[in-house]
Amino acid sequence: MPRRILVTSALPYVNGHIHLGHLVEYLQTDIFVRFLRMCGHEVAYICADDVHGTATMMAARQRGVPEAVIVAEMGEAHRRDFADFDIRFDYYGSTDSDSNRESVYAIWEALRAGGHVTTREVTQLYDPVAGVFLADRFVKGACPRCGAPEQYGDSCDKCAATFAPTELKDPVSTLSGARPELRSAPHWFVVLERFRPFLERWVNDGGHLHPDMARWVTNTFLRPGEPLRDWDVSRPAPYFGFPIPDAPGHYFYVWLDAPVGYVAATRDWCAASGQDWRRWWQDPATEIHHVIGKDIAYFHTLFWPAMLSAVGWNLPSKVHIHGFLTVNGEKMSKSKGTFVRARTYLEHLDPQWLRYYYAAKLDGTASDLDLQLDEFVAKVNADLVGKVVNLASRTARFVPRLAASYPEDGGLFARAAAEGAAIAAAYERLDTASACRLIMAAADRANEFVERAAPWNLHKDPARHGELAAVCTVALNLFRQLCVYLAPVLPRLAAGCGELLSAPIARWEDAAQPLVDRPIAPYRALLTRVEAARVAAMIEASKAPETVARPAAAPPAAPSAPAEAPATAAASAPVEALAPTISFEEFAKVDLRVAEVLAAEEVPKAKKILKLRLGLGPLGERTVFAGIKAAFPDPRALLGRRIVIVANLAPRAMSFGVSEGMVLAAGEGPACYLLSPDPGAQPGQRLH
Ligand code: MSP
Ligand code: ZN
Repeated sequence: MPRRILVTSALPYVNGHIHLGHLVEYLQTDIFVRFLRMCGHEVAYICADDVHGTATMMAARQRGVPEAVIVAEMGEAHRRDFADFDIRFDYYGSTDSDSNRESVYAIWEALRAGGHVTTREVTQLYDPVAGVFLADRFVKGACPRCGAPEQYGDSCDKCAATFAPTELKDPVSTLSGARPELRSAPHWFVVLERFRPFLERWVNDGGHLHPDMARWVTNTFLRPGEPLRDWDVSRPAPYFGFPIPDAPGHYFYVWLDAPVGYVAATRDWCAASGQDWRRWWQDPATEIHHVIGKDIAYFHTLFWPAMLSAVGWNLPSKVHIHGFLTVNGEKMSKSKGTFVRARTYLEHLDPQWLRYYYAAKLDGTASDLDLQLDEFVAKVNADLVGKVVNLASRTARFVPRLAASYPEDGGLFARAAAEGAAIAAAYERLDTASACRLIMAAADRANEFVERAAPWNLHKDPARHGELAAVCTVALNLFRQLCVYLAPVLPRLAAGCGELLSAPIARWEDAAQPLVDRPIAPYRALLTRVEAARVAAMIEASKAPETVARPAAAPPAAPSAPAEAPATAAASAPVEALAPTISFEEFAKVDLRVAEVLAAEEVPKAKKILKLRLGLGPLGERTVFAGIKAAFPDPRALLGRRIVIVANLAPRAMSFGVSEGMVLAAGEGPACYLLSPDPGAQPGQRLH
């Protein structure tokens, strides 16, 4: 029975490029979709860019362009990256669309009418310099639970505590470096607790979640006796988003309109292709499958089903949750070159390799996936080239045609055909690792057959050319069967196989019947080996260029001042020309503070930089990257020293982190002299 299935991947944020971590999700969804299509189901694969929120607004401000420019540019880049990895959406939209506004308003009306909305004053952090309320990700400070420094305003990556940004200790705005103020404004909330009985049922019954995830959601968010927190769905102006219809000056929080984007993109697709979107979202016969990462499970297993139930649209049939990508056992890192953009990968390597490698490792659970670069090379070469493509490359050249009837093969074809159901079941639960294991076991059996039959020997003996045709017919059919099973993962390989045997691979059943009596096209390489050197080149290209902060503020050279070098210039460093005169008011804008060095460490891959953790007394702590390493080969020499920093300099994003100030020093390189106050000056004290 063909099913009608709508599949989504999470909507990527418009604020960054697609990287190998994202691809864990989009590749596995694409594989799932291709598999479902091969089974003859009616499938829609829908996605969009998630564009609203403070980050987009700030990026637009910084560039001095309307948000729409950023949305269009990044949307284009995302589409290209996905397309070049053979990720084929039926529709890829944006959450900033009319259809999304309409859909959001419909849901809002339903929430209002159902009595699920409440309002109250919320005190939020406000950046007085940037003039905006600060989203969680724009505040950093120490974790209120464990004290770990440098945590974002929503959760701690050291102890996993979640909290409100106002709970952070010593908060700093990452937008301007200013210390945020508390300001209050009315906010609108969805009272999630009202959905509790519904959510408990939805999470635990009906197989919507992997049983491990259902347990995790229950234990983490639905603990008995602990009411669900009201969900804050509004933000005061200025904000890039949809205005709340009955609350002028207030906007819907990005996470309210983001999942509604699944519906909106479907609506846009339907409008463009002459369909009725309600077939997909209101006919209960349609299955809805969301594929997401574990970091956004909260939104997809609580908020989203609650919103859908309020408006009465289709609930998700399944939410498939995957883990996070690590590379060589560690978090992706810009300095190590393991934070690889999709585009950089494509400039060096074949997308089929990554499709297969991820597929071979993803098992449908939320465990993290480790991309081990050596294993990547070994596995792709051993499995795809050594086991699969080899079957064709070693046999296709010997015969012009498949035999007129399928020869005796010792039951190999029938056995692999019988395994089709198990392989399909694995694809259906996104356990592509099991599917690949079964497929490679069949490939091993096929290769044993070819080794034993040794067509290269038969070829040399004209008397045995009948036997040769039989052996090649078997080998090429076993090869084709593997290509059918691998087609969701490797559509290009499947297409190449289709051309070779002049029979396109389109359906899952193509693995059930051998082909006979057909011309074999001249063989051309279907897939090449991975060279380790190309992987190394990709990593090298991904290493962030070193952005070296000067240790001291370099006054701009006065354009016309004659730089008169003293007679002893060769012996001592030339003295920079004096900067133009400034007023006292201009000087007073520079906020110089005494700071104590709490920690000093090297930054991997940054030859000139030290990372300093500085204490500013009551003003909290700062991280500053300073180009003073040459002068302090042993950074421990700095511990406890009191120095002077420019404390109100806009934070500067460097490849290794954000620098929240600048250390004052004279000189450069090994001859760099840090400025220190006389004994007695206290951390945080201002210099006048
Ligand atoms: N915009 C939200 C999703 C809104 S859905 C209504 C978002 N965007 S994201 O760009 O940060 O992430 C998109 C998807 O990619 C998420 O499902 C996320 O889990 C996944 N991944 C992003 N980085 C990842 C890894 N490093 N590893 C695996 N998946 C990752 O979240
Ligand atoms: Zn913590």
